[in-house]
Amino acid sequence: MILIDSLPDPLIECDFENVYYPSEDSFLFLDHFRKSIKPTNFDGIDLQEVDAVLDMGTGTGIIAIFFQMLKSINKRFNPRIYASDILKESILCAKKNETRNNFTSQITFYQSDLFTNFPSNLKTSFNIITFNPPYLPSSEFIKHRKKIDYSWNGGLFGFELLLRFLKEAKLYLNLKKEHYIYYVSSSKTDLDILNKEIMKLGYRNEMLRKTHFFFEDICLHRLRRLRD
Ligand SMILES: C[S@@+](CC[C@H](N)C(=O)[O-])C[C@H]1O[C@@H](n2cnc3c(N)ncnc32)[C@H](O)[C@@H]1O
Repeated sequence: MILIDSLPDPLIECDFENVYYPSEDSFLFLDHFRKSIKPTNFDGIDLQEVDAVLDMGTGTGIIAIFFQMLKSINKRFNPRIYASDILKESILCAKKNETRNNFTSQITFYQSDLFTNFPSNLKTSFNIITFNPPYLPSSEFIKHRKKIDYSWNGGLFGFELLLRFLKEAKLYLNLKKEHYIYYVSSSKTDLDILNKEIMKLGYRNEMLRKTHFFFEDICLHRLRRLRD
C-alpha cells in the first residue's frame, strides 16, 4: 500500500514556453498535503466530506494531478477534481501531464480568467481550492504584455489578482461543509496590507509553512470563510 506521506511528485513535462514550470512554491503545496492528509482526513476535514476540489491557475497541472493520485490510492477520497488556467497552453500541457501519469480525462479542465468561464452550477461546490497565484509586484509600465507574465505578475502591489480571486471564490465555496482555500504569498509584497484586505473579505487566515527561495520568503496559507 502506498502511504500518503510517500506519494511521489507527479511526472511533469512541459513543452510550452509560456507555462510555469513547478518550482519551490508548487512544492510547498505538495509537501504540506503529504504531511497533513491522513488516511481518514484532509488536513482535518473528513475525506468523505470532500466533494469537489479546484486547482486554480494549474500551470502544468501538478497540484491537480497530485490530488488525482491521492484519489487513486485512497477510496475514501473521491471528489470531482477541477483545474483551470487563463492560458490555453497550460490547459494543453496539464492534460498531457494527466495522461503521462496514467489518468485519462479524469480531471475537468477550464480555460478561464479566474471563474469567468465556470458553469454556474459549480457555485457553492468546492470544499478545497488551491491557488498558487502570480504574486510578484509589477510596475505601472508592465501590463500582461507577454503570456509568461501571467506566471508572476500579481498586479502593482503583487496581490491584486489574489484579492480578485478571493472575492469571486466566496461564491464557489461550499460553505455548508468544511472548506479551505490554500494560497501562496511572497515577502516581496506588503503582507500587512494583504492580511488586512483578506480579513475584510471575511476569511480567517493561517500561515502554514514558509521557505526561503533566492531573494524572498514564500509562505503557504490556509483560509476559511468567517461569514457571508
Ligand atoms: C505561479 S504559476 C502556478 C502554476 C502551478 N499551479 C504550480 O503551482 O506550478 C501561476 C499560474 O496562474 C495562472 N494565472 C494567471 N492569471 C490567471 C487568471 N486570471 N486566471 C486563471 N489563471 C491565471 C498562470 O497562467 C499560471 O499558470
